[in-house]
Parts: sequence; C-alpha cells; structure tokens
Amino acid sequence: MSSSLQNRDRDFIWHPYTQMKDALPFVPMVRGEGSYLYDEAGNQYIDAVSSWWTNIHGHADPDIAAAIYAQAQKLEQVIFAGFTHQPAIELAEKLLKRIPFHNKVFYSDNGSTAVEVAIKMALQFYWNKGEERSKVIAFKDAYHGDTFGAMSVSARGVFTAPFQNLLFDVEFIPTPTPGNEQLAIDELKALIERYGKSSIAGFIFEPLVLGSGGMLMYSEKVLDEMIGICKAHSIITIADEVMTGFGRTGKFLATDYCQNKPDIICLSKGITGGFLPFAATTCTAGIYEAFLSNDKAKMFFHGHSYTANPLGCAAGIASLTLFESDNTFDKITQIDQWHSKFESEIRENAFVSDVRHRGTILAIELKTDDGGYLNNIRDRAYLFFMDRKVILRPLGHIIYILPPYCISEADMQKVYSVIRDFLASLP
Ligand SMILES: Cc1ncc(COP(=O)(O)O)c(C=O)c1O
Repeated sequence: MSSSLQNRDRDFIWHPYTQMKDALPFVPMVRGEGSYLYDEAGNQYIDAVSSWWTNIHGHADPDIAAAIYAQAQKLEQVIFAGFTHQPAIELAEKLLKRIPFHNKVFYSDNGSTAVEVAIKMALQFYWNKGEERSKVIAFKDAYHGDTFGAMSVSARGVFTAPFQNLLFDVEFIPTPTPGNEQLAIDELKALIERYGKSSIAGFIFEPLVLGSGGMLMYSEKVLDEMIGICKAHSIITIADEVMTGFGRTGKFLATDYCQNKPDIICLSKGITGGFLPFAATTCTAGIYEAFLSNDKAKMFFHGHSYTANPLGCAAGIASLTLFESDNTFDKITQIDQWHSKFESEIRENAFVSDVRHRGTILAIELKTDDGGYLNNIRDRAYLFFMDRKVILRPLGHIIYILPPYCISEADMQKVYSVIRDFLASLP
C-alpha cells in the first residue's frame, strides 16, 4: 500500500532517469546518518552508492551540517559578479593546495556545469588567441553529464539518442581498457596527424574510471601517455574528476596517479561531502591568462545565479577539513583492501564475466546475452538488494559498489554478502 507521501509524490513529481509509466513507488527517505538512510517506516538501508556518488563522509555529518548552519546565519547567497566572500576564497585556497599546478577556481552548480565551463574555457582559450581550434576529443564510452555540451562529449547511446542531431561533432577514440591501450593511443595520434594539431582544442576524459559508461577502468600509465601526447601538441587536457575526485580512486584526484597533469579539472559530487549542489572547474595560469585583455569580448562569458553559493563553499571547506582531521585516507585504504579480497573471491564465479576495482569503487560485470543500460537483469538485481535494505543501482548488467568512506567493516561485509547471495540466486 502506498503511503501518503508516495501518493503526493506520484501526483506532483517527475523523477530523473525513470520511466514514470511503470515506476515502482518511490521510497520516501526521512533521515540519514553515516552510511545509513532511513525510510518513513523506520527501515534502515546501507547507502552503498553514496547517493549518486556524492556522499563521501556519511549522511548528515555533524561538522558539515554545523558549517552550513553557521554560514546560513551570516550570508546565504550573494551575486558573485562584482562581489566576493570569505568562504569562496578559503575554499579556492584549499582546493588549489591540493592542485598546486592550477592557478584559478571557477565555481558552478553541478557536474554538468563544471564540464560545460571546462569545454567553453578550452574553446574560448583558442578563440581569444585567434586560433581556429574547435575540435574536441573524448572517449567513446564517456559520460560527462546531461546538458548539451556535456552530452556532446559523451557516448552516443541510449541517453543521448533523442538529441543526436543537435550535439556538436566530437572525435571519439576507444576507451583504453585492458587490451585497448595501444589502439586508443594510436587513434589519438592518428587524429592529431589527420587534422593537424592546429584544429584540435581539447581532450576530455574521465580519469582511470568511466562511471556511467559501466565503471570501465584503465591504467594511469596509458592516461599519463595520452596527456603527454596532447601536451606536446598544445591540446588542452580536461580531466572530468566529477566522480573520481575527493579520494574515490585512492588518491585525492585520479590524475594524482599521473606525472603529466591536466590543464583543466572538473569537480563536483563529493565537493560538499554530498550536502549541496555545487561544482568547481580549476585551470592553469596559462588558460586563465588567455582571458585577460583590454578587449571586453575576451572575458569568460559564463556564470550561474548560484555561482560560489556561500553555503556550498562552507560545506566544501568543512568536507576538505574532514580529509585532514578524520583519517579519511586511512578509511579509503581500508575499503580498497576489503574490495581486493572480495574481488579475488568472486572472480571465478560462473556468472561473473569481469570484476575490477580501483580505490573505493568495485564493479562486477555479469554474464548476459544482452548488455546495456536497459538490461532486464538490472531490475532484478536492484529489487533483490532493496529487499535486503542495501542500496545498489546496477548500471545495466554491471553491479558496482561506491560506498561512503565512513562505512564500517560489518556494513561492507553485508554489502558483499547480498551480492554473493544474488549471484547464488542466478540464473
Ligand atoms: C564523470 C561525470 N561527469 C559529469 C557528471 C554530471 O554531473 P551532474 O549529475 O552533477 O550534472 C557525472 C554524473 O554522474 C559524472 O559521473
């Protein structure tokens, strides 16, 4: 029987990434604490996907909540053109301490806008210099968001099909998953050769893990080489760290594994510890300086109503402080070790075609005849896990775990155990 909240939800709300015609009633959540979410009936769920990969220190973290409360009583919002404020400055300083090869932070609201900002920065960089570079390179399995620029640099597939004709042309290269490394490098070099470096503006990539594309993983060695090739040809490299940033892959940034550094970095999701919609795009001094001019037409024409919202900044500062004060990296290392063991355990399972992990992310690819996001096994797995009060949202036939860093060993073991039970229930 539907609750009153569920009835009102059905009457008024259109949910994301959901076929509303036959959607199951949405579960009204009333409270969160640490790795748990609680529904209105008092059921406790383990949030094993960190609420769409945002929540890194746990739900309702008291330090972040207190920081937002304190900021809300002082200054909740101010136009960021012509004005500034202490939290925006402090957060930028803290971020750039972690990204010392970058020089400026541009704030926006979410992962897609962080990507839009990055693409526009790269394209206008060359426009400002009077160079005709407008081509962008991306991985063929990429996902960079749902706005038009972000969709354009994302895989052409079920998410983008209705808009296909309106997306700008992008040069896609193979994702350098194991076995495809050389192919990806060769195709990158071939593109540079074919078009001449003078027409390619940028290369955008999800470093080490492609999230929505199926938690596809590749090595830092190949990424390092690709960034190096682009640098040699003045192609601006854009690391979309929206999912991988803030410790997800074991280091603060996934590109921290590489010697060659990207020119632009997109951050969101974990930036506020999962409390508020917020994002930042950081860049090198060289990118920033190309926008300094006596000609006003060369300024960066981008901004959002809530750019650098003080509450988001306060949450961001509190979240970064937790990295230092709360042994966050020890927790990340611990999750990495638990994942390693579980990975070895299920590698030989008859229904598993591949299992991989990087840092706190673990992905299990199930053997099916019919891969893809709309695959039927997805719903069966999702409901199996929900019945057992574990929130896991498979991407088609790929089950993945992406937990908050505060998850306890017992809860992590429960997540592994429901996956084990699901595998045992197959076919
Ligand atoms: C790598 C990457 N970039 C961009 C985005 C878009 O972020 P948002 O959903 O906040 O717009 C996502 C979202 O999943 C992502 O994983």
